[in-house]
Amino acid sequence: MTAKVHVDLPGRAYDILIGPDILAQAGTHIAAMGGRRHICILTDENVAALHLAPLQTAFSDAGLTSDALALPMGEATKCWAQLERSVEWLLTQKVERGDIVVAFGGGVIGDLAGFAAAILRRGVRFVQIPTSLLAQVDSSVGGKTGINSPSGKNLIGVFHQPSLVLADTALLATLTPRDFLSGYGEVVKYGLLGDAAFFDWLEAEGPALAGGDMNARVRAVTRSCQMKADIVQRDETELGDRALLNLGHTFCHALEAATGYSDRLLHGEGVAIGCALAFELSARMGLCSQEDPSRVRAHLRDMGMKVDIRDIQGDLPDAAGLLDLMGQDKKVLDGKLRFVLARGIGEAFMTSDVPREAVLAVLDDALRA
Ligand code: GLY
Repeated sequence: MTAKVHVDLPGRAYDILIGPDILAQAGTHIAAMGGRRHICILTDENVAALHLAPLQTAFSDAGLTSDALALPMGEATKCWAQLERSVEWLLTQKVERGDIVVAFGGGVIGDLAGFAAAILRRGVRFVQIPTSLLAQVDSSVGGKTGINSPSGKNLIGVFHQPSLVLADTALLATLTPRDFLSGYGEVVKYGLLGDAAFFDWLEAEGPALAGGDMNARVRAVTRSCQMKADIVQRDETELGDRALLNLGHTFCHALEAATGYSDRLLHGEGVAIGCALAFELSARMGLCSQEDPSRVRAHLRDMGMKVDIRDIQGDLPDAAGLLDLMGQDKKVLDGKLRFVLARGIGEAFMTSDVPREAVLAVLDDALRA
């Protein structure tokens, strides 16, 4: 049951392999890429405890030796100190230009390890082995790498495409239901932004997928990666279409900032709430029918996800305060907020033509609801 998505970038093309037994084949795939037969793995302590032994066994079965550096779990790891530690460790491991670094973990490890690989000896190859649903459908694909700054998330980094992505869908079984559903927020986003039939399918199969149905998981990860690959092929460095992947993210980033990037709101939860708000705003601006936001909310509710701002525990700023936080988002261009809105489910588009009052009204009603 292995699916393959090809990311066809000139000179930087790579495959994404998706299925429930990919980890066991990791050594074979990586050995076939050439380079030194010693593999350096960057991971986190949680993933290392759960899955590092089988990965290293897969490597030794393929005649590869390996060493791993396990970093602390959590977003705070995406910082200069852990980047320095990772790069210095890779240098002590004598990683050279033709060698391969493996990023084994969720989005934090993928972003940090990809950045470390990008700047080490002016760039070495890296393989993404994403272990969270969010990383399998989004952050491991497309080459965005980097760390956070006190001034904001993901403000320091480069585009550096992986040479291979190995998404083992069996690893998703060890995620908490909350982490799984947070990743599912990004899956729903793909249907909402560009594939109404995929959203129809998620409405029907989402509960089975969350319950562990492996065929459904492989299909959802594959369709998400295919959609991301198609967009990245058109616009690798986000000069245009790639910004469609930010559906729900302008609202999400304001809510994440308002909750201090804490456990109160996981990224994918913010994306789901943000998608519902983007559809609400679209409907109020007369761009899509009022049924569309209702349908989005109904599906998120059916999945047991956070749907509305009021589902976030604790105090939040008022609507004007949230709007200010949106102004600090890096998708601001010439002082104007760029939004991804929709003409219907599966029909997202970008616009800077959004009246401030309309956004304020949506936020105000959501906070009062
Ligand atoms: N996560 C959005 C992107 O990769 O462009």
